[in-house]
Amino acid sequence: MNLHASRTPPAGGDLFDAIDDLRRELNAVILAHYYQEPDIQDIADHVGDSLALAQAAAGTDAEVIVFAGVHFMAETAKILNPDKQVLLPDLEAGCSLADGCPADEFAAFLAKYPGHKVVSYINCSAATKAMSDVICTSGNALKVVSSFPADQPIVFAPDRFLGSWVARKLKRDLVLWPGSCEVHEVFSERRLVELKALHPEAVVAAHPECPEAILQHADHIGSTAAILAFARDCEAREIIVVTESGILHQMQKENPDKVLIPAPGNDESCNCNECPYMKKNTLEKLYLCMRDRTPEITVDPPVAERALVPIRRMLEIGR
Ligand code: 13P
Ligand code: SF4
Repeated sequence: MNLHASRTPPAGGDLFDAIDDLRRELNAVILAHYYQEPDIQDIADHVGDSLALAQAAAGTDAEVIVFAGVHFMAETAKILNPDKQVLLPDLEAGCSLADGCPADEFAAFLAKYPGHKVVSYINCSAATKAMSDVICTSGNALKVVSSFPADQPIVFAPDRFLGSWVARKLKRDLVLWPGSCEVHEVFSERRLVELKALHPEAVVAAHPECPEAILQHADHIGSTAAILAFARDCEAREIIVVTESGILHQMQKENPDKVLIPAPGNDESCNCNECPYMKKNTLEKLYLCMRDRTPEITVDPPVAERALVPIRRMLEIGR
């Protein structure tokens, strides 16, 4: 019997206690991405980048996986754990990269490139993963693409900016699907340059989902986990952070004496560096999804079986 089913969500600190109780009752593990709101990061069992969270999902012996992230992340956890229940606090937590690469259009695109291997960024649907040879994240994209011989033609999808950064770094041609992250593509180069002029001692750390015009100003380019490691290790006292603003919570916790400066988007009137999908999850929705054991992620079993193969290959390659 679910003892919490009739309760309304408690307020404040009680919500933390209630989530903790449910975690024990359900034998659940809570996985949270660095872009989640601070309270969610603080209550999670694991906070990480996409790769660390996929690794945690692959290794958990919990019976229920509560994924505080976006849909493709929870879907990946379900593909890795077909017999476990996977919950996502808000089913509307999508991703512009995943939405921008519908499986039928991707199949038609791939038909134009016979003989190519397909490397897909984890930010895509299960159906798109099922058409891929190997999955990558921003944390291992260079390593995954390098696992193919230099003369192997490759289609890279769905993020053209991550793909073109990998192509530049590895000095090899990649056929790119024309997708982008709606958060990382709107950082303003003009405003970043102005910010650097205002803070001449600051270093710039950027995510490879940003366009080249932004990345050319970066001292460090990497996944959210790599950006956090850079922030810990660098000597600089000021860091301009060019990725989703949720990362600032962990970064400030790990570097209380450093000044973190979020890079601005190109529209002064919006919080463009907040991912609207990641921020759909709230602490209250996290509690409710555990109390009601819904929304639950399901994946069509034949699609899940096909998608599991390239996900496993990625995990074997590692970081
Ligand atoms: P990483 O977690 O690989 O840094 O990717 C960031 C992202 O945008 C996830 O959606
Ligand atoms: Fe998708 Fe961009 Fe949001 Fe990450 S930050 S979930 S890539 S829209």
